[in-house]
Amino acid sequence: MTVGIDKIAFFAPDTYVDLTDLAQARDVDPNKYLIGIGQSEQTVVPVTQDAVTMAANAASKLLTETDRQALGMVLFGTESGVDHSKSAAVYLRSLLDLPASIRTVELKHACYGATAGLMMAKDYVTLHPEKKVLVIGSDIARYGLNTPGEVTQGGGAVAMLVSQNARILALEDDSVVKSEDAMDFWRPLYRKEALVDGHASENIYIDFFTAVFDDYQKLTGRTIEDFDALAFHLPFTKMGLKALRAVLPQANDLKQQRLLEAFEASRVYNRRVGNLYTGSLYLSLMSLLANGELPAGSRIGLFSYGSGAEGEFFAGQLMPDFDPQALQADFAQFFGQRRRVSVPAYERLFNQSLPDHDVLLDTKADSARFVLRGITHDQRQYQ
Ligand code: HMG
Repeated sequence: MTVGIDKIAFFAPDTYVDLTDLAQARDVDPNKYLIGIGQSEQTVVPVTQDAVTMAANAASKLLTETDRQALGMVLFGTESGVDHSKSAAVYLRSLLDLPASIRTVELKHACYGATAGLMMAKDYVTLHPEKKVLVIGSDIARYGLNTPGEVTQGGGAVAMLVSQNARILALEDDSVVKSEDAMDFWRPLYRKEALVDGHASENIYIDFFTAVFDDYQKLTGRTIEDFDALAFHLPFTKMGLKALRAVLPQANDLKQQRLLEAFEASRVYNRRVGNLYTGSLYLSLMSLLANGELPAGSRIGLFSYGSGAEGEFFAGQLMPDFDPQALQADFAQFFGQRRRVSVPAYERLFNQSLPDHDVLLDTKADSARFVLRGITHDQRQYQ
């Protein structure tokens, strides 16, 4: 029996800031952002979208009635939770009108949360092959205006349906995990923006990747030559390139070229969306699947990293039924309909926040299917 990703969908708000505009406003050479960081555009998240609405907008694209009836769990990975207690997954259950007889749980470990969900989903479906699990990665990446992290912001959600006989990626059962108490990136409860030790975080990311990739090779006897592509958590796309370069010398010349080509395919969409924390690795996977021209049976290695810190390397095989056309069309429509906002407009949207009293938000400018309407009696009102 194969278990893995049967369906996958993406959502991000339709507003973005162009990073050449941002570089000019910050008096920085645009090539620092475009080449040095490897980002060209960045999603701007309006106050009418949050982790719950973005997840609902992504997940509503992929669930049929049969899927709903087979759902055993909703595992919601996020570090942009909307409540200290109430699970984002139960809000999602209600917005999508899912059956009451399912587990609805929110999972947190920085950007690693969705991978924790994916691995739990795989184990659960292996034990209960008739069941399916909805796994979410949904976040808003915020560092603050005029900070070094500003160019690595973004936001959006990825929804995945995990089942047996998966039609996209069959997950192999030999992943390797490493965790360690690190202070590379964190967000105390009283802050809206993350704190980060930027350069240290890059070094820890690389250390974790090389450690789990080494252990994976020892565990399985496979080498880099056994992979057709490697996909990475992409907080900014240069980060994945740095990780790839750390292991590339292990491959022969032809394999090096193929892995670099696959990497370019895997960053096309992330370069234009920015960091979406839990969803970033899976947006990169979608970008690879849509742009990479990989044949059925290709083995893809995936590196998930969450600050604080946890890293996992795992592998999957591309299934014969996978057809990239629907993904390509979905992203072409998404990018085609986005609205570019000026830097002052981005700053205004960035500074909008929910008050700590009742409010009715103006949702006219938000064309998404699910939006946050406001707060009544300290309760979020979704529509
Ligand atoms: P910085 O200090 O402003 O940038 O911040 P820099 O001076 O290091 O320059 C960046 C790169 O641009 C360098 O290349 C420069 O050489 C190059 P590199 O040495 O890195 O290869 N450069 C240029 N290139 C071309 N033309 C030019 C030019 N000028 C400079 N004119 C930093 C960079 C990433 C530190 C900052 O943006 C930041 O703090 N970001 C947030 C932290 C982050 O994303 N860390 C990644 C690892 S941790 C992680 O992935 C987890 C995370 O997603 C959170 C979670 O788990 O929840 C963040």
